[in-house]
Amino acid sequence: MVARVIAVDPFDLVVFGATGDLAARKLIPALYFRDVAGQIPPQARIIGASRRHLSGNEFRDLARGWLEQHVRPEEREDGKVARFLGRLGYVAVQADGDDGWNDLAGALADAPERVRVFYLATGPELFGPICAHIGRHGLASKAARVVVEKPIGKSLASATEVNDAIGAVFPEDHVYRIDHYLGKETVQNLMALRFANALFEPLWNNAHVDHVQITVAETLGVEGRAGYYDTAGALRDMVQNHMLQLLCLVAMEPPTSLEADAVRDEKLKVLKSLVPMTPDTVAERTVRGQYRAGASSGGPVKGYLDELGDTTSRTETFVALRAEIANWRWAGVPFYLRSGKRLASRVSEIVVAFRPIPHSVFQGAGPISPNRLVIRLQPNEGVKLWLMIKDPGPGGMRLQHVPLDMSFASVFAARNPDAYERLLMDVVRGNQTLFMRRDEVEAAWTWIDPILEAWAASTDGPKPYTSGTWGPSAAIALIERDGRTWHEDEEGE
Ligand code: BG6
Repeated sequence: MVARVIAVDPFDLVVFGATGDLAARKLIPALYFRDVAGQIPPQARIIGASRRHLSGNEFRDLARGWLEQHVRPEEREDGKVARFLGRLGYVAVQADGDDGWNDLAGALADAPERVRVFYLATGPELFGPICAHIGRHGLASKAARVVVEKPIGKSLASATEVNDAIGAVFPEDHVYRIDHYLGKETVQNLMALRFANALFEPLWNNAHVDHVQITVAETLGVEGRAGYYDTAGALRDMVQNHMLQLLCLVAMEPPTSLEADAVRDEKLKVLKSLVPMTPDTVAERTVRGQYRAGASSGGPVKGYLDELGDTTSRTETFVALRAEIANWRWAGVPFYLRSGKRLASRVSEIVVAFRPIPHSVFQGAGPISPNRLVIRLQPNEGVKLWLMIKDPGPGGMRLQHVPLDMSFASVFAARNPDAYERLLMDVVRGNQTLFMRRDEVEAAWTWIDPILEAWAASTDGPKPYTSGTWGPSAAIALIERDGRTWHEDEEGE
């Protein structure tokens, strides 16, 4: 099966922070792939903007280097690379000052009606100043929209400030808050699985589901990002956004359509139904950890504090928690979330664990494991439904737990596009379904804030764990205390 390419209107895309890590690793490669797919109209312009004084050619040389680093050689043809680079321009702009804004306005002046995207691949402290300049220079045209990356704030109060500053220039239906997890192929498959099949929905509730697990495990450490990461930590970096968004997609009611607000209204209800944490429940239901030296991806690695060069940091690189949703569908069904760096393998998955059968007729046939639906986001994207079946052959009835296995790589021949490819084109098309609305971001912070506050007030810091393991033993105890275990599949990386 081959992916369909849907045409988009000509657009001007201005990337602020154009010489940064996100542009290099994700945005420029994603735009290149969309260009190769024939989705970028010939009139489209992609303009890099940052404070560095570069000529257009110097920026294109940088971009060529990023493509060489982040796109496999067999996917890089000289002609196609040259054509793509030809679409790139550059303007030196001071995000929090006046320099360069007239040049940028000049570069956009000849197409005032065109879809205009401002992508702020910068720190959140620059979102407000950049938007203010965009407004002041009359660049927020009717077809203009702004894209912002997480983190949006560090708490409810700071997120509200950032959102106010953006909202002073752009109306909410022109604001695209990216959560790249929503652009992942399998995350959207979760919606297809739930709402395009009659099979699961009748079982998707507390009468049939015992619990849900969401794991996002990485083998990487904080790499070159220790400066940012140490001010964030795993709860802000992964849980407040990506993991709560995944939880919403699992738990939300069926929306009336895929129209942006229909989906976002349902996600918001889930966030508002999360049982708030108190200092006592934070102590019982959350575990935070910090990696120590160990082995990862086949070699020895340093501990977090060594990487950071600061022995006092209490920033967590791992978090596990038990969330509860207070509504009719989910009351009594725990949602266990865990995410961490330098864990034993790279695996992101959602596990819906069904209740055990009420009575077994198979005496002596071995234990009967409850059904599990495992939605694998990465690597080896796919869906597995674990069922009990009879062991083949004569010799009496013996039962086995085996997966009905749909690996997407073996079903679909198409390349699995990066989340940013889809999300960037959605912005150009004006489709906000996969972007977070302001009230969602703020509701997520409302739930996260008490956890951060209780941790800050506690005399205990994060529990150490050895790199290359599954985190502190308290995270295993968190789920085992409830008579359950973290799902294990042999397929991580
Ligand atoms: C980012 C976090 O949002 O997501 C990173 O800031 C994390 O710390 C990354 O590594 C994980 O994304 P992915 O797509 O590699 O699972």
